[in-house]
Amino acid sequence: MGAVLFCSNLDDPEEWRGPLTKLMPDLDLRVYPNFGKAEDIDFAMVWRPPEEGMDQFKNLKAIQSLGAGVNQLDMSKLPPRVAIARLVDEVLSKAMAEFCVLTALRYHRNIDVHERNSRTKKWEYIIPRPAEQRTVGVMGIGVLGGAAARLLKSVGFKVCGWSRGPKKLDGVECFHGPDGLYRMASKCSIMIGLLPLTPETQGIIGKKLFDAMPQGSYIVNVGRGGHLNEADLLPAIQSGKIAGATLDVFNAEPLPDNHPFWNRPQILITPHVASTGGADTAAQLVVENIRLARAGKTLVNQVDRSKGY
Ligand code: NAP
Ligand code: GLV
Repeated sequence: MGAVLFCSNLDDPEEWRGPLTKLMPDLDLRVYPNFGKAEDIDFAMVWRPPEEGMDQFKNLKAIQSLGAGVNQLDMSKLPPRVAIARLVDEVLSKAMAEFCVLTALRYHRNIDVHERNSRTKKWEYIIPRPAEQRTVGVMGIGVLGGAAARLLKSVGFKVCGWSRGPKKLDGVECFHGPDGLYRMASKCSIMIGLLPLTPETQGIIGKKLFDAMPQGSYIVNVGRGGHLNEADLLPAIQSGKIAGATLDVFNAEPLPDNHPFWNRPQILITPHVASTGGADTAAQLVVENIRLARAGKTLVNQVDRSKGY
């Protein structure tokens, strides 16, 4: 039987070992870079692949992403025989929905303004409005965007959602396709980016989107850094079109010290912490995928390489 490679600079392999071996007692888990013979590896759990790539693993059948996103795996460098699965996990979905509600409420209740005012001893009364008077848009209403949309709805916001193909979500006004985004944007003064990064979604959070939104809108990007057209954001903030942005993901992580986004009062930077999966809850899925990969079957949450997500 083959061995499973664990390769991540963010996840602790020992957190996973217990839950995995409980479900698969004969699991041979090897942690990068001490994986022994490369030809033993037939399955890999990966956040980012090693710099030298995955070519040395000639018997690799499948990769289980340790994230919900897969763009960091650079699929173009992986042979077609290697199936890829995304991580879908209740802990990850719940944490993401919480983060989206937290950031939407922060803007909706003007907490960002009160935070700034409290630094300058400014007493500014801003009338609090009910959440029902605010429309929040969610770009990407898959597993995570869907969970976020439901939780946003439950606190009272009007919620719109955008997907690639047509979709129905209870209580959410749904839009799809390229034109659908800009029709949705005209209604939303808070926009949350929760898309996978593909050639179609690269740079999609940019001037055209900002222009379609009401004056003084807010942007929350929790998808990937590549979704944001960085050069468009500062002029949009300067003009007041965008009143604030919460950015959790960046093209370069950590964000370099000299990046112009640091120290901007209207930009909140969080270090890619919107959500993460839980080994206890996700181990079941991983073990199922190890078994499916070894049986030559389709994985659970297998990525459609032609779509890129
Ligand atoms: P998912 O279930 O695959 O959902 C993706 C959604 O995006 C779907 O609704 C899909 O539309 C839509 N979409 C994809 N391409 C599109 C396009 N060209 N136009 C319009 N809609 C498009 O993915 P997920 O599990 O929700 O994860 C989403 C992303 O969140 C991940 O890829 C990752 O980048 C990011 N993420 C970030 C963090 C963090 O901590 N910041 C954590 C986890 C994940 P269809 O429904 O029509 O397919
Ligand atoms: C984190 O960004 C993930 O893709 O799960």
